[in-house]
Amino acid sequence: MLGRLEHVAIAVPDIAAARTYYREVLGAEVSEIVDQPEHGVRTVFVTLPNTKIELLGVLGENSPIAGFLERNPAGGIHHLCFEVADIEAARDALAARGIRILGGGEPRIGAHGRPVLFLHPKDLFGTLIELEQA
Ligand code: CO
Repeated sequence: MLGRLEHVAIAVPDIAAARTYYREVLGAEVSEIVDQPEHGVRTVFVTLPNTKIELLGVLGENSPIAGFLERNPAGGIHHLCFEVADIEAARDALAARGIRILGGGEPRIGAHGRPVLFLHPKDLFGTLIELEQA
């Protein structure tokens, strides 16, 4: 079911500073900062040869990463994103095995314009997992 690792997401307290650090210190190719108001985050994608890093910053009052950053003020790994060939088939198969799908189970359009879903970390060894339609 799982395809390639699409990205590893890291929540950061200052996305502009993190973007500069990845570009200047780590020598990585970084995108512009993109506001995602429907998700309550700002994103930067760092392109690596084999996958991407998604830097996540807070946007607005009810950002879904605000609580995470309160618990992890220096930032930290927030989720992993795997590609799946058919997101609705993957959702149905996982739900049938008792894995909880966050947000009501309907795919939303993610940062790449493709449908995404999030799986409950308590059902996946303490790790928030995002599935993205390949
Ligand atoms: Co993501």
